[in-house]
Amino acid sequence: MLTLGECRIEARVVDITTLAVDAIVNAANTSLLGGGGVDGAIHRAAGPGLLRECEPLHGCPTGDAKLTAGYRLPAKHVIHTVGPVWNGGARDEAFLLASCYRRSLEVAREANVRSIAFPAISCGVYQFPPDEAVSIAFATVIDTLPAYPALERVIFACFDEAMLARYERELRAR
Ligand code: AR6
Repeated sequence: MLTLGECRIEARVVDITTLAVDAIVNAANTSLLGGGGVDGAIHRAAGPGLLRECEPLHGCPTGDAKLTAGYRLPAKHVIHTVGPVWNGGARDEAFLLASCYRRSLEVAREANVRSIAFPAISCGVYQFPPDEAVSIAFATVIDTLPAYPALERVIFACFDEAMLARYERELRAR
């Protein structure tokens, strides 16, 4: 765990759909109409109201983020962001992944979110190399904190111990 100003940053192995935070972030696709991985888990746990709210949003560009309610989730809100598909690294993947974290936090701040949980965006189906993805996630969140003093808690929700070890390396390096 790391405390920076008023904000506690931690990483845990946990199913993100179980977290009672103000917002969980969804690693969605540009349609915002659901999918596999964490997106599928979030839609299943939230129930059909989530898809009904997503439909009129008309999707979301890669690197951007959109807010909905959490429906049956313990989280109040879902922030849907769209990570880049890894294509070798020369197609702005790093920039776009950083943009997912930046835009998610901007959307969160506008909604007065004080606690937020992120999955490892793009590290599953989209095949972003996880070491680089975790560095980008961590650095972008930390860089954004000065502009978001109301944020009290950030949880990096990891699916397994291997992913947790990557965040713990970043936490130790601070
Ligand atoms: N809680 C926390 N982390 C999870 C959970 C969970 N319940 N389930 C999976 N993960 P992925 P992407 C981890 O594939 O790479 C979808 O079909 C998983 O182990 O969910 O951004 C969308 O609709 C991995 O570390 O997202 C898109 O089409 C991380 O979450 C596409 O996949 C992200 O894996 C997006 O691919």
